[in-house]
Amino acid sequence: DSLCVVLPAAGIGKRMSQNIPKQYLKINDKCIIEHTIERLLSHPRIGQVMVVLAEHDNIFSALEISKNAKVCTTIGGKERSDSVLAGLKAISEQTWVLVHDAARPCLTHTDIDALIDFCIEQNTGAILASPVRDTMKRSQHNQKIENTENRDNLWHAQTPQMFKHEQLISSLEQALAHGVAITDEASAMEFANVDCFIVSGREDNIKITRPSDLNLAAFILTQQKEETCV
Ligand code: CTP
Ligand code: MG
Repeated sequence: DSLCVVLPAAGIGKRMSQNIPKQYLKINDKCIIEHTIERLLSHPRIGQVMVVLAEHDNIFSALEISKNAKVCTTIGGKERSDSVLAGLKAISEQTWVLVHDAARPCLTHTDIDALIDFCIEQNTGAILASPVRDTMKRSQHNQKIENTENRDNLWHAQTPQMFKHEQLISSLEQALAHGVAITDEASAMEFANVDCFIVSGREDNIKITRPSDLNLAAFILTQQKEETCV
C-alpha cells in the first residue's frame, strides 16, 4: 500500500512566540517540518506527502527538501480544519488518508505501523493517542474542584489520524457547515457519527507548541535514533 499523508503546516505558531512559524525553526540543524517529512517518507507504506502551506511560503526554497513527486504542496486556510480540508481536496482520490501535524517530528515508524495495521484490519478510522498520566480534575468556577475524572477513560489525541478519504472530507464539511469547533479530524468524525477508534501510541510523539518543547524534541529525536523505532 502506498498511502498519502496530508501535512497541515500553515499555522503561525503563536504560542511559540518566535519571529517565524514554528515548523521552520531548527532542531539539530534541520527544520522541524523537514524532520517530520523525513520520518513520513522513510516509511515504506507512505508514498506521498501533501504539505499544506501558508500563502507565500515555499518549502522548496526555504529548506533542503528537493522538488520530487513524493512531496506536493497546496495553500491552507484560517483554521487548522480549513488547511486539512484544502489538503484533502488537493490529493487524488484515495481509499485511505492520514493527517499528521507538521509540528510532530517525533513520530516513530512503529506507531505509524500500529495505526495503519489497525485501520486496515478493522476497516475503520482511528487516531494515535496516549493515555493521560496525571490525575484529572474538573473545575468550572473559581478553580474549585468539582470532581476527579476517571483517568482510565481519558487520552491525549495525537496525530497521525487515519480515515477513509471521502468520509473525512464529507465529515469535515458537515462539521464546518454547522460551525462546530474542529480541533482534530476525529472530532469531525464524531460530529458526523462515524466510528473512530484509539490506537495507543508513544507518549513522546509530542506536538511542539511552546519554546521549552524545542529542547525536549531535540532530546527525543536523538533518543529515538538509538532505538529501532524509526
Ligand atoms: N495549522 C495549519 N493551518 C492553520 C493552523 C494550524 O495548517 N490555520 C497546522 C500547524 O502549522 C501545525 C498543526 O496545524 O502543524 C497543529 O496546529 P498548532 O500546533 O496549533 O500550530 P499553530 O496553529 O501554528 O500554533 P498556535 O496555535 O500556537 O498558533
Ligand atoms: Mg493552532
